[in-house]
Amino acid sequence: DQGQRQRLIEAHREAQRFYADQLLAPAAQEGRRFLSERGFGRADAEYFGVGYAPGGWESLTTHLRDQGFTDQEIITAGLAGQGRRGAYDKFRNRLVWPVREVAGEIVGFGARKLDPGDDGPKYLNTPETPIFKKGHLLYGLDLAKREISRDRKAVIVEGYTDVMACHLAGVTTAVATCGTSFGEDHLKVLRRMLLGRSNQGGEVVFTFDGDAAGRKAAVRAFAEEHGFASETFVAVQPDGLDPCDLRQRQGDAAVRDLVADRKPLYEFMIRTVIEQYDLDTAEGRMAGLDAAAEIVASIRHEGVRKLYGVNLDHWLGIMDESFVQRRVDQHVAARRGRPGGGSARRPAPQAPPGA
Ligand code: GTP
Ligand code: MN
Ligand code: MN
Ligand code: MN
Ligand code: MN
Repeated sequence: DQGQRQRLIEAHREAQRFYADQLLAPAAQEGRRFLSERGFGRADAEYFGVGYAPGGWESLTTHLRDQGFTDQEIITAGLAGQGRRGAYDKFRNRLVWPVREVAGEIVGFGARKLDPGDDGPKYLNTPETPIFKKGHLLYGLDLAKREISRDRKAVIVEGYTDVMACHLAGVTTAVATCGTSFGEDHLKVLRRMLLGRSNQGGEVVFTFDGDAAGRKAAVRAFAEEHGFASETFVAVQPDGLDPCDLRQRQGDAAVRDLVADRKPLYEFMIRTVIEQYDLDTAEGRMAGLDAAAEIVASIRHEGVRKLYGVNLDHWLGIMDESFVQRRVDQHVAARRGRPGGGSARRPAPQAPPGA
């Protein structure tokens, strides 16, 4: 209910103030080092509200109790766990980023471990609570919403540090999920801002870490996305860098260029798939062609689908363009033959002439 929601939000407001103060304390030296190694100064930390969760078991809990919050409220907020001897701090010896909902209220935290000896996960997020719903929340959206609506463009990055780096570099439409993959509900939230009154247009750029896992995540996350694909782009970092690394090593302009050099989703998906085949052999090219044609066949827009078919021969190194086109057409036909579209089955090999 509304009263409970208000209490939980107040607890987060108080927690953020506490964590921000702690970042200035001697014990937070590792946290400050982390930030400066990633190219963030004190003013940057303040702008994003970054703080430090001390190492003790009851640092925040004690502070919130002193402010009149009950253990039950602190636990329901996701700020403490229920131990045998009462509430204990969820985030200990971690750097913490406040996660704000669109209107700007803090509803949770993302927390990165600082001690390599800590055997917990690198990042801990607030668990699902009455006010923290990971499936809908986008970190940075409170800052980015106006630019997203104005530019009809949103940039999705992987993490908290990447959102900071993008905004500081001038890419002020950047947001990130909070430790989950980008899903249908995230898209719904953005769509309202991306599509104006005309209910048209809008561009989503996915920027993933340059490592293989990041690329695969990109393909997976958007393979089944709905009806937005022709305005969906992917920007992949060179050499496994994320936007934060890129800014730290090469500066703000490199981050802006990365986003500007985005590739359409389908081009990215097709090329990623083709890279997995050995194009030096006929067998490899044929298998690569079928895999790529399957993606092309899934493109709903007929014109866009045709145009991708035209590029495949070049990407695969196959000289015979009409052979490639026929193969794509077979995949399209195989897909149509299935009730409701569905995923395409590979077309049967063509009968040899005269058979
Ligand atoms: P550094 O490794 O310190 O440079 O951090 P990073 O910001 O580059 O993080 P990384 O690319 O590993 O992760 C990006 C985002 O994925 C983070 O901001 C988290 O939201 C999420 N994430 C990463 N590791 C974990 C994890 O162990 N658990 C959960 N729940 N989320 C994670
Ligand atoms: Mn990564
Ligand atoms: Mn990263
Ligand atoms: Mn990183
Ligand atoms: Mn061609």
